Amino acid sequence: MKGEILLAGLDIGTSKTNALIAELRGDYSIDIVGVGSAPSRGIKRGVIIDLDQAADAVSESVSKAERMAGVQIDSAVVAINGSHISSFNSQGVIAISKDHPDITEDDISKVIEAAQAGVIAPDRELIHILPREFILDGQKGILDPLGMAGSRLEGKVHIVTGSSTAIQNLFKCMEITEIEVDELIFGNLACGNAILNKTEKELGVLLIDMGAGSSDVSIFINDNIAYSSILPLGGIQVTNDLAIGLKTTIEEAERLKIKYGNVLENYISPDEVIEVTKGDKLAKEKIPKKLLVDIMEPRIHEIFSIIKEELERSNCLNNITQGVVITGGCALLPGITDLAGKIFKMNVRIGKPDYQGALSDLVNDPRLSTEIGLLDYALKQEAVGSSKRSRKKKGTSVFSKAINWLRDFF
Ligand SMILES: Nc1ncnc2c1ncn2[C@@H]1O[C@H](COP(=O)(O)OP(=O)(O)OP(=O)(O)O)[C@@H](O)[C@H]1O
Ligand SMILES: [Mg+2]
Repeated sequence: MKGEILLAGLDIGTSKTNALIAELRGDYSIDIVGVGSAPSRGIKRGVIIDLDQAADAVSESVSKAERMAGVQIDSAVVAINGSHISSFNSQGVIAISKDHPDITEDDISKVIEAAQAGVIAPDRELIHILPREFILDGQKGILDPLGMAGSRLEGKVHIVTGSSTAIQNLFKCMEITEIEVDELIFGNLACGNAILNKTEKELGVLLIDMGAGSSDVSIFINDNIAYSSILPLGGIQVTNDLAIGLKTTIEEAERLKIKYGNVLENYISPDEVIEVTKGDKLAKEKIPKKLLVDIMEPRIHEIFSIIKEELERSNCLNNITQGVVITGGCALLPGITDLAGKIFKMNVRIGKPDYQGALSDLVNDPRLSTEIGLLDYALKQEAVGSSKRSRKKKGTSVFSKAINWLRDFF
């Protein structure tokens, strides 16, 4: 293994922190060699609220992945998630010099810069500017204007920002673990790149990453994100509802959810019963299994309904021609695709990685979609020849990120 280039991805989720380590092969394919997971601590809705606890979980997951791989990593591409993230569309325009009418990379940087001028509040930090479309002298729908001739260049972008405090604390957490941050990538972006197919990403698909603390929603179209939002509701709320409804502990509610959980009544025969351990651990009670559906279905229904209402308000529903892809831990809930289909009235599928290597049984899990996407991103960075050392911490400028994204896609 010595001499191999190592790629690492790290996702600090609300419920678990996962690290993946891969080796880069000569043909720019990757071979995943280490997978490590630890229960997250000190995280609320994807945001770090206790640095040391969060750092412990990172160190534990990375050590596990390192042990499996028999290597040590000193840096990783890290996902940025959480309720502090907000995103919106913006646009900029520049005039192209008559003397040099061919569009250069510099022109593209300038129009992207113009699109974010004055739109980011001082307490927020830019995470990505994702080019959606360029308009050259009124000609719409241009994805790569480099080398084209024109006099007026407009750029439509999707901007993802995060709270400066939350981002600083993520870097502080990583400093404690002594693992450098190669790049911060918006979790849903990484996730979409890992599990959506080319047609979906091009023609318009709704991605929902339903984790423990939040449901992260994006519409991908023209190979990039055109809409995204983070809804602070996820599997934790389902577990809480069960704990309250069945008068039991959170731990027992989580166990029942994973073992018997279901959101469609017609999957269960009416006389099936299950045993619930009550809070004092001595009392046990038999309940109809259907009761779980009665408690869980309304919550998942509510989450999908809120997502749909938001999309309607934002006039985005018509952009979704390829249906809905659900991923994250809640995607493992039986019946979730049928329920989503009823609400969105579209085709729904479960999205998970489709990795073909030796650890595919561990990796092809909807709870690892984001992490696989991070490795893809690390791979793209290697492919465009970026030096890891020059990409550490916050040094990467917004414009070089945007240009890298352009290069990745064209
Ligand atoms: N088999 C299962 N059936 C139902 N729910 C499940 C199953 N497995 C995991 N979950 C739920 O999925 C959630 C965890 O999903 P995931 O690992 O994607 O979250 P996370 O990344 O830690 O959180 P977030 O993305 O919100 O920060 C938990 O609420 C868990 O109860
Ligand atoms: Mg997650």
